[in-house]
Amino acid sequence: MNNDITISSPDFPRISYSKQGNGEVLMLLHGFPENHELWKPVLPTLSQKYTVISPDLPGSGNSTLDQENITIEEMAEAVIAIVKAEKIEKMVLAGHSMGGYISLAFAEKYPSYLKGLSLIHSTATSDDEEKKTKRQKSVALIRKGGKEAFIREMVPNLFAERFRKENKAIIATQTERGMMLSENSMIAFYNAMMNRTDRTAILRNANYPIQMIIGKEEKLAPMDVLIGQAAMADISFISVFEDSLHMSMIEQPDRLASDLINFTDYCFSR
Ligand code: MLT
Repeated sequence: MNNDITISSPDFPRISYSKQGNGEVLMLLHGFPENHELWKPVLPTLSQKYTVISPDLPGSGNSTLDQENITIEEMAEAVIAIVKAEKIEKMVLAGHSMGGYISLAFAEKYPSYLKGLSLIHSTATSDDEEKKTKRQKSVALIRKGGKEAFIREMVPNLFAERFRKENKAIIATQTERGMMLSENSMIAFYNAMMNRTDRTAILRNANYPIQMIIGKEEKLAPMDVLIGQAAMADISFISVFEDSLHMSMIEQPDRLASDLINFTDYCFSR
């Protein structure tokens, strides 16, 4: 999967993204600690139907980030830079986890570009105090040189237990990918996520459909809370993945691709 296009914007000297397929635009934003390669298992199916754009968010993959501080809103500016470079008028935006937080920030500032918004293992609420304290501890660990320990502990826990036990090679690949992020980027992303605001109002006010992809054992927020968020929107699609935790694009790629296609088709048919 080539990360074939590079642009720059006033805020970001290098934003890389992959563009595959033809037709209406589906943009996929990866989460933490990832890059655009996260979407590899679903890309062949999705790109048969749509123009699929998958960026490396600033500080991930081939996209640069020099500072230790960035906000979720600033990352949404990298998304609009791509939208403008590609002259996209309408798209469905799908964000995985941290990518979902960025998608919501994009929806807040640039709603007119959206035909639909898909939150994949993500939440519209902000971090509670317990989560913030946990993140601060992780930042302190990374600053002390504990990046590798942090990633080795974190990544396997993103997967459902059975998948993790049966797919050690995949977990190892994911862990290696996480390790490619610099300390700077990790700290910047953790600070950005910790400081993000509640965006449930985006779901309540959306004049486009919302999709919620939820792992049954999701740890980010309990399933009933996420279903409650989906119910805030006028039109929502809810998918509960029994056998996935936080990584359905890897744990159940065929089902995720199929649910994304159902949703995207519906959004563009309205
Ligand atoms: C992610 O997958 O992007 C992160 O785990 C999200 C988070 O830490 O809130």
